[in-house]
Amino acid sequence: MSQGLERGGFERDRGEFARGARALVVLPDRGDTRRDAEARLAETAGLADAIGLVVAERIALRVRAPRPATLIGTGQMQQLADRVRQENATLVIFDAGLTPVQQRNLETGLAAKVIDRTGLILEIFGERAATAEGRLQVELAHLDYQAGRLVRSWTHLERQRGGFGFLGGPGETQIEADRRLIRDRMARLRRELDQVSRTRGLHRDRRQRAPWPVIALVGYTNAGKSTLFNRLTGADVMAEDLLFATLDPTLRQIALPGIEKAILSDTVGFVSDLPTQLVAAFKATLEEVVSADLLLHIRDIAHPDSDAQRSDVETVLTEIGVAPETPRIEAWNKLDLLEPEARTDMLAEAARRPDVAAMSALTGEGVAALMAEIAARLTADHRSYTIALDPGDGAGAAWLHEHGEVLDQHEEEGRLVYRVRLAERDFARFRQQAATPDDEG
Ligand code: GTP
Repeated sequence: MSQGLERGGFERDRGEFARGARALVVLPDRGDTRRDAEARLAETAGLADAIGLVVAERIALRVRAPRPATLIGTGQMQQLADRVRQENATLVIFDAGLTPVQQRNLETGLAAKVIDRTGLILEIFGERAATAEGRLQVELAHLDYQAGRLVRSWTHLERQRGGFGFLGGPGETQIEADRRLIRDRMARLRRELDQVSRTRGLHRDRRQRAPWPVIALVGYTNAGKSTLFNRLTGADVMAEDLLFATLDPTLRQIALPGIEKAILSDTVGFVSDLPTQLVAAFKATLEEVVSADLLLHIRDIAHPDSDAQRSDVETVLTEIGVAPETPRIEAWNKLDLLEPEARTDMLAEAARRPDVAAMSALTGEGVAALMAEIAARLTADHRSYTIALDPGDGAGAAWLHEHGEVLDQHEEEGRLVYRVRLAERDFARFRQQAATPDDEG
């Protein structure tokens, strides 16, 4: 059944968002943030750049007392309107949350389209979602966001409805009708999503029964996840200086010291103020993260807001339901960008902490040590066992090599005796074989 909203419901106003459209980035600075205003503006400009907008100017505005109607003051509105005109900008991006009323008043006052941080992130996610599930989730989040903003004119919905006279009965106001359209569309999306995630759940179950550990790469956007992922797997995941180059999780098999197979998953980059609608929507996509055996948190250690980014990532991890006890390692990335003194301090600090490895995904420095650390963590609960197999049991021997680290093997009374480090759960599978735990290990 096609209602026209099939695709059109998510149709964006391409005019202001078209590649090459000129935008101003505005940071309303209340002076109460621990973040560096310049870095923050650079991040937002980077996000805009990620969808092909041309950032004509970055402006930090001191906002002492935010106005409910417009956020910024009358004089500031005038100044900004001048900038918009002079720069020929069609879009103004506010790096803040705007109420629907503020958004509308700013659009009138500035004579340009205005979006806030959530709107911008939704635009990027909308463009980047590659899988069917990713697209459904972004659309759902977008509709949810827009449902609260129906004070604005819904030109595309109107346009759509023009062709479908049966929608919107007599006496129904435009906003009510639009709400109903959105509600129906959201209900349908949820059903579709349900179906898709059930299918994916099946795939995941199948893999979870395989005994390979899953390592999830997490990190603030642009921290270097894809670069590290590529270095470890030889895969060609898009690694660019574009924020959110990756959106849907990518899974690859890797080998680690003493672990023949592990699954490495690269996930979406995190940002501060991730729209709540998206956190909910991406919970499913981030299932890999929630159920991972180990989290590898990649941090851009050379970024001025590195600490704030770290807590943003931790906050999202908690929000999507990652258990606090899930083992994690912090990879302090971009070591190559540090000045010698900062670098020495960072290396010393990392050496003191068992959960930290300093490295550079770009130069490869520290990557081998990081891998060894990951392997050590994953096998921390492994013990060493002695397992005797019949010489003809080729399948058994292969299984041991695949699932454990064979430390020694010799013949004894016509049987092959292996000393092997194994996870407890794997050893349990071998119970039926003649096996006794060693004391060591
Ligand atoms: P998102 O997709 O936004 O989540 O980004 P990401 O975390 O996957 O980052 P990505 O690997 O795309 O790297 C972002 C930028 O940082 C790219 O320009 C990389 O070349 C650069 N980069 C990554 N690692 C390093 C590093 O160790 N040193 C330096 N100098 N640059 C790095």
